Amino acid sequence: MSFKDELQTLKTSFEGDLGSVADSDQLEALRVKYLGRKSGLQDVMRLLKDMSVDERKAAGQEANEAKRSMEIAVEAKDLELERVRLEGLATEEAVDITLPGIAPPVGHLHMTTTAIREIEAIFARLGFTRVRHPEVEWEWYAFETLRVGPDHPARDNWETFFIDAPTDDKKGKMVLTPHTTNGDVREMERGDLPIRMMNINKTYRRQSDVSHVPMFHQFEGLLIDEGVTVTDLKGLFDHFAKEYFGPEREIRLRPHHFRFTEPSFEVDISCGLCQGIGCRMCKDGWVELGGAGMLHPDVLRAGGVDPEKYSGLAFGWGLERTVSMRAGLNISDLRTMYSGDVRFLQQF
Ligand code: PHE
Repeated sequence: MSFKDELQTLKTSFEGDLGSVADSDQLEALRVKYLGRKSGLQDVMRLLKDMSVDERKAAGQEANEAKRSMEIAVEAKDLELERVRLEGLATEEAVDITLPGIAPPVGHLHMTTTAIREIEAIFARLGFTRVRHPEVEWEWYAFETLRVGPDHPARDNWETFFIDAPTDDKKGKMVLTPHTTNGDVREMERGDLPIRMMNINKTYRRQSDVSHVPMFHQFEGLLIDEGVTVTDLKGLFDHFAKEYFGPEREIRLRPHHFRFTEPSFEVDISCGLCQGIGCRMCKDGWVELGGAGMLHPDVLRAGGVDPEKYSGLAFGWGLERTVSMRAGLNISDLRTMYSGDVRFLQQF
């Protein structure tokens, strides 16, 4: 084959190969094959040495032109491959900054906190001011001033947690308060009459079952003024029941006994499931809310209030119980409220 033909064959096969190059590795292999030191071009160049000076000059020029055009083609291909790669990246790695973000879960208030706020608001509209009295309390305020003496059997009901602290001669031992009634005499001692107090606080009793948690909340209402009577008490509860549970709910007072109130009542509310007809949950159409009564004169006196001039009412109810009794909430085990299980808490 003549030199010209050899060169032509080389160029044709180069162009064919170049057409099928798909990435930079293949392009480099092609460059080595056609332009490297042991390449097809070098083989063709070897034919030059058998030529005359004139022939060699013309053939050499042609060979150089062929080399140059192949080099340019390789460079162009290189640029094109890079362009295609970058274009691919633009779609592959594209970030659409106009898409809405993924909102992290933020949670919400615990059902107990929500209930505290609702109850606080209902009584605030009736002029009751929210206060908090100590959770770690002297026996004096939790029992003694409420006419529950050291040996009184009623103390057993409260299954008290005692604090390992020095005993005070007058105020006795320190306890985790078993009810919010500890705040009643404390509130009177502030000396500001009349009193409309709403004490919502943590309370503690050594009991744990489906309807009891050892740490729970009570909300205690205390109203002391001239001429306060049982009708005020009944009116307050009616109002609360309708506000918190719904307008169709009714209240009933049942005689009961507490050392610190006289008369004393157990407050019932008509059952939310059967609307007072009687069902498996409530039996006779009523469910118990909590205790209440007119303050015993000795309790008023213990707080420095003159029972000849003033009378007062008090009520203390379990918050968790009240929440769980609200229509639609049928919590089978109260302890679940503090289990920290979000699957439960998310529902409320
Ligand atoms: N402290 C009582 C209890 O925990 C409830 C109560 C409060 C009763 C105020 C009467 C008056 O059971």
